Amino acid sequence: MTAVRAEGLFKVFGRGADDAVQRLRDGASRADVVAQGATPAVIDASFEVQPGEIFVVMGLSGSGKSTLIRMLNGLWEPTAGHVYVDGVDISGIDAGELRRVRQQKISMVFQHFALLPHRTVAENAAYALDIQGVPKDERRAKAAEALELVGLRGWEDRYPAQLSGGMQQRVGLARALTAGSDIMLMDEAFSALDPLIRREMQDQLLELQASLGKTVVFITHDLNEAMRLGDRIAVMRDGRIVQVGTAEEVLRDPANDYVAQFVADVDRTRVLTASSVMVPAQLEVNISAGPRVALHGMRDKQLSAAFVVARDRKLRGVVRDDDVVAAVNRGDSTLESIIVSDVASVHPDTVLAELFAPSAESVLPLAVVGDDGRLLGVIPRVTLLTAMASVAEALPEAEVVR
Ligand SMILES: Nc1ncnc2c1ncn2[C@@H]1O[C@H](COP(=O)(O)OP(=O)(O)OP(=O)(O)O)[C@@H](O)[C@H]1O
Ligand SMILES: [Mg+2]
Repeated sequence: MTAVRAEGLFKVFGRGADDAVQRLRDGASRADVVAQGATPAVIDASFEVQPGEIFVVMGLSGSGKSTLIRMLNGLWEPTAGHVYVDGVDISGIDAGELRRVRQQKISMVFQHFALLPHRTVAENAAYALDIQGVPKDERRAKAAEALELVGLRGWEDRYPAQLSGGMQQRVGLARALTAGSDIMLMDEAFSALDPLIRREMQDQLLELQASLGKTVVFITHDLNEAMRLGDRIAVMRDGRIVQVGTAEEVLRDPANDYVAQFVADVDRTRVLTASSVMVPAQLEVNISAGPRVALHGMRDKQLSAAFVVARDRKLRGVVRDDDVVAAVNRGDSTLESIIVSDVASVHPDTVLAELFAPSAESVLPLAVVGDDGRLLGVIPRVTLLTAMASVAEALPEAEVVR
């Protein structure tokens, strides 16, 4: 089941909100509606977040991200549309039930930590349990567990003011973890932190998410953060979601100029992967074929080497032209004795930046080999260079030479 689903969500502030929704649905522009005194913060947003996914919402300041996330946890009621949490339409339920959903299913991590200054780290971490009326000993135990997970063991009895910003945000994370909810909503949670601490927190979130399988909706206006964290990224502009896709899809095929500008300063060599630039091998010789078949194919395609695959397309290695000629002259019936199995191969998910070294060391194209050992494609050096050239346009010079 979908963890969170938004269906035709609108939030309009100001006068004539319902009327504004109707006009937007009928095709009025945001500016038209604004001119009449309403502020559409979120316009017709629909998407699904799968359990265990990190779903990033990215957009410039004022694009509607916070408004959207506040509707996802029922803090704000949509002007129109529906939010489903674990399949339950939270727009339609009564206040008590909504409170229960918010306590049990969703926790929120804010940009400015929102810690209570006069409570200890442990008490802050256990805050949600306090509200739920969980007994003190159990609260303490759960808080200790969560603090351990975020690397704050031993800090239980300190106060927020005694902690650095990064540590305070770890307490914020721990608080979301003690609540035990499967869904975590994070609004610019790392934006106030120094770059290095921020990286650490991103790594920590990725680790926690992998081990605990939380569903995360993460808001940011930082594209690099979105790329690092997001399984999928939704790009918001002026209240609308203008694109939803994987980092690679958003980079390779920006839905419009706005997205393109947003992604222009990203180092694509760290996002585009081997599978996106590989091409079919010019010649694959089956291991069961003999040297004559290999030689024929190589002469035909004017190649000095060929990839050899097994019947199930698993890569066995390469054969070189002079070895093949010698094998034919010897009257060999198989390629077994001349296969060079030490081939430069890479995983399809390897980013371009990491292909240069293996490519430079190999005269042959790089073999792209899947987890199951099958040859998926190859990357001739010229293909890599061409891919780099189109990337270069989007990069400052210093980045390209690396
Ligand atoms: N309570 C409110 N009353 C009126 N207008 C609001 C209210 N909250 C937000 N808005 C307006 O809604 C739009 C979206 O605001 P929102 O805070 O959701 O954007 P954001 O993408 O989170 O921006 P930021 O990156 O600065 O946090 C803005 O035009 C904002 O001025
Ligand atoms: Mg915001």
